[in-house]
Amino acid sequence: MCGIIGYIGNKDSTSILIEGLKKLEYRGYDSAGICVKTKEGLKVFKKRGRIFELEKLDELKELKGMIGIAHTRWATHGEPNENNAHPHFDCSKNIAIVHNGIIENYHALKNLLEKEGHQLSSQTDSEIFAHLVEKFYEQNLEKAVIKTLKLVEGSYGLVVMHKKEEKLIVARKGSSLIIGVGEGEMFVASDSAALLEHTKKVVHLQDEEIATITKDKYIIKNIDGEFVNKKIEEIKWTVEQMEKKGFKHFMLKEIFEQPQSITDTIRGRIKDRKIKITVDFRVDSIKRIIITACGTSWHSALIGKYFIEELTQIPVEVDYASEFRYRNPVIGKDDLVIVISQSGETADTLAALRGAKEKQAKTLGIINVVGSTISREVDSGIYLHAGPEIGVASTKAFTSQVVALLIFALYIRQKKGQELDQELLRELEELPQKVKEVLKTDKEVQKIAKEFTAVKNFLYLGRGINFPVALEGALKLKEISYIHAEGYPAAEIKHGPIALIDEQMPVLFVATKNNLSAKIISNMQEVKARKGKIIALVNEDNKEIKELADYLIKVPQIINELSPVINVIPLQLLSYYIADIKGIDMDKPRNLAKSVTVE
Ligand code: M6R
Repeated sequence: MCGIIGYIGNKDSTSILIEGLKKLEYRGYDSAGICVKTKEGLKVFKKRGRIFELEKLDELKELKGMIGIAHTRWATHGEPNENNAHPHFDCSKNIAIVHNGIIENYHALKNLLEKEGHQLSSQTDSEIFAHLVEKFYEQNLEKAVIKTLKLVEGSYGLVVMHKKEEKLIVARKGSSLIIGVGEGEMFVASDSAALLEHTKKVVHLQDEEIATITKDKYIIKNIDGEFVNKKIEEIKWTVEQMEKKGFKHFMLKEIFEQPQSITDTIRGRIKDRKIKITVDFRVDSIKRIIITACGTSWHSALIGKYFIEELTQIPVEVDYASEFRYRNPVIGKDDLVIVISQSGETADTLAALRGAKEKQAKTLGIINVVGSTISREVDSGIYLHAGPEIGVASTKAFTSQVVALLIFALYIRQKKGQELDQELLRELEELPQKVKEVLKTDKEVQKIAKEFTAVKNFLYLGRGINFPVALEGALKLKEISYIHAEGYPAAEIKHGPIALIDEQMPVLFVATKNNLSAKIISNMQEVKARKGKIIALVNEDNKEIKELADYLIKVPQIINELSPVINVIPLQLLSYYIADIKGIDMDKPRNLAKSVTVE
C-alpha cells in the first residue's frame, strides 16, 4: 500500500524520484506527488491518477534539487485527489512528509493541532505528521520526528524533510522502509524494486527505528534515541527480473515464468531422494498445524492442508489471518503456526504471526520477499525464490507456495522416519517440465476467453485438493476482470448456488482425474440440465465430459498432490485474457495494491 521513495545526493533528484515511483506503482496508484528542496524552498507537485500524469506536468522540467521525496498512493483516509495526495506540508511549508500506514489516534491529534491553530488542508491522517513535526521543531528535525512518533498510534513508513536541513529523516513502524546505500548518495524506498537500478546495498529498518540520512551516511536510532547498529545487506534480485521482457504485462510474464520459479523453489531441496531443508525447531513433535494467510496465499494454505494431513497425519487448520489475529485462538507450545505471504509485509498476516508468537507457538514462514518483515520475525522460514512478482494478481508466488508446502510436508514425514513416496518425489522434480506443457494451452484459453468477456458472473467448481483451485480461479477473475466470480466445492452447488444457473452462467469445472472424478461428472450433469455453459479442465479423454462440456481445456496428467499447480495455470491465463480483451490494465487493477500493509 503506497510507495515511498526518497533521494539525497549530488544528482538531480526529480528524475530519480519519478523513475523510482514507477517501480513502486504496483503498491498503489490512485494519485502521486513529489517534493524537491530547491533554492527557493520546498516545492511540491501532485496529481490524481498514475505516475505518468504527474510526470506530464511542465513544472517538473524546472524542478531542480538534490534532495527529494515522492509518493504513490492507495487511499485510506480521504478520497484520491490532488489535495489528499502526498507529500503533505505543515502550515509554514518548511516541512514536507510522505507516509504509508494509518494513524489510529488521528482524530485526537487533529483536535489537538487545530486547537493550537494549525490549519489542516487535506482529509488525510498523514498530514498530521507534518504539523506535529512543525509543533516540535527546534532546529533539529530528528528530535522533532522522535517527539512526533511518541504521540502517534498506528503504523507508519515515514520520510520527512525540512527546507533548512540537508537530510532526510526516515521512520518505520509496521510499514517497510529500506535505505539504499550508494556512493555519495543515499536512497530510501518502500521496497527494493525502486533501488535496484542505483544500488544493491541496503539496510532494512525495523519497527520503531529512525534513520537520519545525509548523502554520505546514515545513523539509526530507536525511538528512545539509542543508537542501533545495522549491517548492510545485498539485494539478490536483478534489474532484468523487474522488467517485462517483451511481455505485454507483468502478469503474463509471471505466468510464463512458472517453469523457472518452480525450479527455483525446488532447487537444492531434493537431493538423493531426500528432502534437504533446514528448520530451526523439531518438527516430529508437532501436534497440530495452523496455517494463516490472506487472499491467494490463503488458497495455497488450503491446498497445503490436504497434503500435510495426508502425508504427516498431523491435523491442519487454515484460517484467514484477519480472523485469526482477533479470535484469541487456542494455541499450545506443540502447535506450529505457518504464515504464508508473497510480500512478507501483509499487515493481517504479520499481526497473526505476532499473536502466535505471543502464545509460544513455533512459527514458520513461507515467504517470497527476502528480508521482509515477516521473514525476519518467524522462527524459521522457507523462501520461495520465485523472483519478484510485480503484477498485483499473484500467480507464480501461488504455485511456488504450493510446492514449498509440499516440500515441508515431505520433510516432516522424513523427520518422523516415514518413507517418502518416490513417485511423488520424481513428479515433483519433473513438475517444471509439466508446467511448460500446460502453458501450451495458452492459445486455446485465449480463444475461450473471447467468448466470456461480456458475462456478468462466473462459477468455478472443484473438489478435494482442487477445490482451492476453484477459489483461486474465481479470485483471479474478479480482481482483474471485474466479473463477479465464485468458487465452490462442486457438490455444494445444490445447496444454493445452483439457483443461479441458466444459459447465461459459465461454470468452469476443474475436472482432472482423481478419486472424485465420477462425482464431479454428476455435478456437471446437474449444471448441464439447467443449461449452464460448461468449461471443463481435464487431463484425459473422457467421453462423458466431452459430451457435457461446451469447452475443454486439456492439461498434462500429474500426481494428485501436484494437480493444483498444473490446473491453476489455465485459470490464470483465462482471467488474464478476459481482462486484456476488456482493456483492463490487470497489473494495476482498480482499488487494489500489491502489498496490503494496512488492516
Ligand atoms: O503478499 P501476500 O501473499 O501476503 O498477499 C496476500 C494477498 O493480499 C494477495 O494474495 C492478494 O489476494 C492478491 N491480489 C491475489 O492475487
